[in-house]
Amino acid sequence: MSGDFTEATAIGEIAAHHPRLIPVFDRFGLDYCYHGRQPLRSACDRAGVQIGDVLATCADPAFAPSDTDPHWREMSMTLLSHDIEASHHRFARDTLRRLTELFNQLSAADVLQNPEVDQLREIVGTLHEEIMDHLVREERVLFPWLRRLEQTTAVHIGPPWSVKRPIDCMEHDHHATAEAFVKVRSVTTNYFSPPDRCGAHTEIIALLRALERDTRVHIHKENNILFPAGVRAEAGRTRIRSTGCFPPGLRDPAHLPTTHESEAAHPAAPV
Ligand SMILES: [Fe+2]
Ligand SMILES: [Fe+2]
Repeated sequence: MSGDFTEATAIGEIAAHHPRLIPVFDRFGLDYCYHGRQPLRSACDRAGVQIGDVLATCADPAFAPSDTDPHWREMSMTLLSHDIEASHHRFARDTLRRLTELFNQLSAADVLQNPEVDQLREIVGTLHEEIMDHLVREERVLFPWLRRLEQTTAVHIGPPWSVKRPIDCMEHDHHATAEAFVKVRSVTTNYFSPPDRCGAHTEIIALLRALERDTRVHIHKENNILFPAGVRAEAGRTRIRSTGCFPPGLRDPAHLPTTHESEAAHPAAPV
């Protein structure tokens, strides 16, 4: 992508190429992570915002490229997957552990006077179990598989089926996470904490808001950058096996290509 995009461009692709626009998408409530393959216009329609307003904000010099922009696309799959584990997986685990402590601190009177707290506890309990299971499957199965895919000297890559299969499972989990956060927002009236609530309740609401914000970026990095790079790398390995030739960008077997180079070397995955 040259730096320009249109209303027909997939919003996840825009976010991947222009991470500085992620705060703009967040401000307008546009889904660039869970449904990143949808065109920008569809994302605006679903959020009920005017695409002209979004495009005008994106063009604001305040959102011009900067040296401080994240360079996730410049990372190899190995680096990016380790980055995701060290930042987002750790944050999710720490936050969910703290949420469990805080729910246990709520008194019986708190719950009796505010029955929605019990509903929230149940939703967060399910979310906790699902996220923990998801993180383990990424760390033990999918991420090591992706790392082996970019090591051209690796002999055993993974099971005798496509990496698309575990990727589809992970994306299915991501949709379940999105639905759980819709419930959280509904029960908490969009993360509102009445001033008469105890400190534990106030912290629960603040942590849930932070967890949702971090999860959006977490899933963006996976759905829109890491997973498509894995699909392209698998296609590239198939080509190497059938032709014996390394595609441009992958000529040095010791070199780990960035996700960006993976994109240049192989046909883009359909969006
Ligand atoms: Fe993850
Ligand atoms: Fe994930």
